[in-house]
Order: sequence, then C-alpha cells, then structure tokens
Amino acid sequence: MVRFSACVLAAAMLASTEAFAPALTTQRSLTTTSKNIVTSTTNSPVILSDMLTQTELPEKLYFPEDKEAAKVLGGVKIGSRKLTVITGASSGLGLNCAAKLAKTGRHFVVMAVRDVEKGKRVAKEFGFPEGSYVVMKLELGSLQSVRDFVFNLKAFKSARPVDNLICNAAVYKPTDPEPAWTDDGFEQSMGINHFGHFLLANLLVDDMAKAKGARMCIVGSITGNTNTVGK
Ligand SMILES: NC(=O)c1ccc[n+]([C@@H]2O[C@H](COP(=O)([O-])OP(=O)(O)OC[C@H]3O[C@@H](n4cnc5c(N)ncnc54)[C@H](OP(=O)(O)O)[C@@H]3O)[C@@H](O)[C@H]2O)c1
Repeated sequence: MVRFSACVLAAAMLASTEAFAPALTTQRSLTTTSKNIVTSTTNSPVILSDMLTQTELPEKLYFPEDKEAAKVLGGVKIGSRKLTVITGASSGLGLNCAAKLAKTGRHFVVMAVRDVEKGKRVAKEFGFPEGSYVVMKLELGSLQSVRDFVFNLKAFKSARPVDNLICNAAVYKPTDPEPAWTDDGFEQSMGINHFGHFLLANLLVDDMAKAKGARMCIVGSITGNTNTVGK
C-alpha cells in the first residue's frame, strides 16, 4: 500500500487530475500592495495572458519540442534493486540523496531534473556508479512536462513498477519583489513545489500500488508551517 504524506493529501482538494486542465485562472485586477502582493477582486475565469500585459507575461519554462525521446533500458538490468525516482536530483539535498542511494547498490535511481545536461554532469562529478542511474527531463513548472516525464518513465521501465518516489524539487523565493509564474499560470512555489508534484504522484500512484512496500516521500519545509506562513 502506497503511503502519502499529509502534504500530498492536503493537495487532494484538487479532486482529480482533471483539475490540471490548462490554466484557467481567476480574473483579477492586479493590485500591488506595499509588499507587492497581487490580490484579486473579481471571479470570472480568464487565462493568465489576459490578466497580464505583454511585458508582464512570464517566460515559458517548457516547450513541447523540449520533450525528450523516450529512453529505453537497453543493457541496464535493474534486477532486485528498488526503482527510485527523485525530483530535483541535480543539486542540494536531492543530488546527495540520489548519490547515496545509487552507491548502496540497492537502488536504481531516476534523476528527474529540469536541466538534463546538468544532471548528467553532476552524476559524474558525484561518482554515481555506471548503470545505477538515468537522467530524465522533468520541468515541474509545466504540467505538460510532468505528463511527458511520466510517459517517458513508463516507456523506460516498462511493466516494472516504481518503488519509491521522492518529491524533493522546490523553489523558495520569499524575498522576490514580484511573483513568478508557471507555464500553467500558477505562482511558482505553489505550482512547482505542490501542484507539479501532486500531478506526478497522481500519475504514478496506480503503477506504484503494484510494487511491494512502495513509498512516496514528500520533502517539506518548516516555512510551510501555519505559524510561519504570511509572517
Ligand atoms: N536547504 C534547506 O535549508 C531546506 C530547509 C527546509 C526544506 N528544504 C527542502 O529540501 C528540498 C531540497 O532543497 P535544497 O536545499 O536541496 O534546494 P536546492 O539545492 O535549491 O535544490 C532544489 C532542486 O529543485 C530543482 N528545481 C527547482 N525548480 C524546478 C523545476 N521547476 N522543475 C524541476 N526541478 C526544479 C533544482 O534544479 P536545478 O539543479 O536545475 O536548480 C534543484 O535540483 C526542497 O523541497 C526544500 O523545500 C530545504
């Protein structure tokens, strides 16, 4: 039985993956307070591009042409190792966690990263053993990229279920003067840290339910506690 953390369950307010249909956000007249917080005043649905002026429109994080060709296992044999997917495995905690797991010889690690070249480079720098990992493109700021990643992951691993999913990638920009947006029109820390991972978990949960002792691990932060948000 796959266990969710409270974090993922909280996101269940978005009742199904249908909630991830392309960005219809709430129309709002943009009011910038002294803290540069954007507030909304009306409720009619409109796409982000209608909300913002041309100069305010965010740069896209993912383009469909970025979609990787599906990788195949080729000569790699996962054998009795756990198949472990780690998001944000190209730096920080995710990279160190991926390296440790790969070096135990008990995990085959899928490094799910937004910058594949960086992922390949750091895997070499950190001495990941040959045949212990693969690097795959995942831009969590684009729900299309999440879907493309899952498609490629499933093609790569074939019928073998994923044993572990570690949702680690995140952005943290509390001091940025202006909000930044995902390709689907969500504020980035909500879109990348939570909604992207929520869709990823949803798209993998049925597959993971086939694995014995599967686990989803959601890396959180004390800054998400109710006593710190907004202070
Ligand atoms: N460090 C701390 O003190 C601390 C404290 C509390 C909680 N945490 C939590 O620990 C986790 C890891 O933090 P960290 O300190 O290791 O941070 P980090 O070094 O900044 O690593 C974050 C990772 O997320 C990736 N990432 C960012 N945006 C992404 C996107 N749009 N799509 C896909 N991947 C994306 C980054 O990719 P790139 O390599 O391409 O930049 C990077 O690999 C986070 O969940 C964070 O909230 C950290």
